Amino acid sequence: MAESTDATVEEKEVSTEPVGVDTDGFGASAVQDEVVLDVKDLQTHFTTRWGTVKAVDGVSYHVRRGETLGIVGESGSGKSVTALSLMRLVPSPPGNIVGGEVQLGGRNLLDLSEADMTQVRGGEISMILQDPMQALNPVFSIENQVGEAINIHQGLKGEALWDKVVDSLRKVRIPAPESRAKDYPHQLSGGMRQRVVGAIGISSAPAVIIADEPTTSLDVTIQAAYLRLLRQIQQEEGVGIIFITHDFGIVAKMCDRVAVMYAGRIVEVADVRTIFNEPLHEYTKALIGSVPKLEEKTGRLPQIEGQPPLLYNLPPGDAFAPRSTLEFTDEDSARRPPLLEVEPGHWVQLSKSSVADYDKYAHLMPDEEDEE
Ligand SMILES: Nc1ncnc2c1ncn2[C@@H]1O[C@H](COP(=O)(O)OP(=O)(O)OP(=O)(O)O)[C@@H](O)[C@H]1O
Ligand SMILES: [Mg+2]
Repeated sequence: MAESTDATVEEKEVSTEPVGVDTDGFGASAVQDEVVLDVKDLQTHFTTRWGTVKAVDGVSYHVRRGETLGIVGESGSGKSVTALSLMRLVPSPPGNIVGGEVQLGGRNLLDLSEADMTQVRGGEISMILQDPMQALNPVFSIENQVGEAINIHQGLKGEALWDKVVDSLRKVRIPAPESRAKDYPHQLSGGMRQRVVGAIGISSAPAVIIADEPTTSLDVTIQAAYLRLLRQIQQEEGVGIIFITHDFGIVAKMCDRVAVMYAGRIVEVADVRTIFNEPLHEYTKALIGSVPKLEEKTGRLPQIEGQPPLLYNLPPGDAFAPRSTLEFTDEDSARRPPLLEVEPGHWVQLSKSSVADYDKYAHLMPDEEDEE
């Protein structure tokens, strides 16, 4: 959409540009209707000696082809555990996926055997690690590392494998891919290494890529290149991206829709403009509240008064209520607020304690008698 998404991603050009937000508006990609990933009522618990931690407590979201869904929320809100649950990489013990569905390619991933899941991981759904030095093994050549991923998922060997390696490197705009493939990670610049990681991520033509906190530890140059690379991959491959971040500036630049997580639940979901311009949940408002103006540089999440709740033995009601500036009602501490579609495509966890416009949408609340 903006000039920054042009195919010109030579390192020299990206290096001079700060990672700001497009001043002409929000990031948007070529979203198609088809839902590629559909997560329903996912629940992941950790059994600890203090009690059960409901790290993911009934999370539902979907991602369309070519769409970037941002997941934001304070530290500990369950963003990463949700992502790990999709990949079925939650360490067990102490973790267990205790409920829900993860629909991808016509199947529920939670029903697959471990052997089938190994094919899906890094195949149909892949995770791009943020730090290229961590993601790449220094003792193997680029050819080796990109080739390994392709070999595992597509079973290619010999010349066919080599062609595919070169093709993957070309797709992420690595110049002279035939000779770069012979290099080792230390022979490449940071930006080039990042692209190699991207090449591994897309080599299996995944339907969904998860990028968890992709930018925090990177310097600005590499960060800009990384974001551009993701956008470019998305435009060319039509992949759905789940983009987990603390940084609202990057959300505005990269995401089509945003899901806001709090205490293992989604409290609000809407397209990126609505999240910034018409947030309904007090938590979303607080997160956005002190972000510098969009044309300024990116800001990390502001501090919100009060502590995030401890996730073990959490009462059933509105977990944000104690921190909300609105009046705290007993009803809200006892009852789990439902996530309701209050406007087309705009969902909010509706409770008096956390939504100032509660009365406007109160008629949407299910009757209490109808429940349980
Ligand atoms: N192995 C574990 N054992 C017990 N609790 C865990 C374990 N891993 C994660 N948790 C808990 O699950 C909750 C969610 O953690 P998660 O890593 O998903 O947070 P996050 O939103 O990704 O935070 P951050 O922004 O810091 O990355 C936290 O309360 C965390 O303490
Ligand atoms: Mg995390």
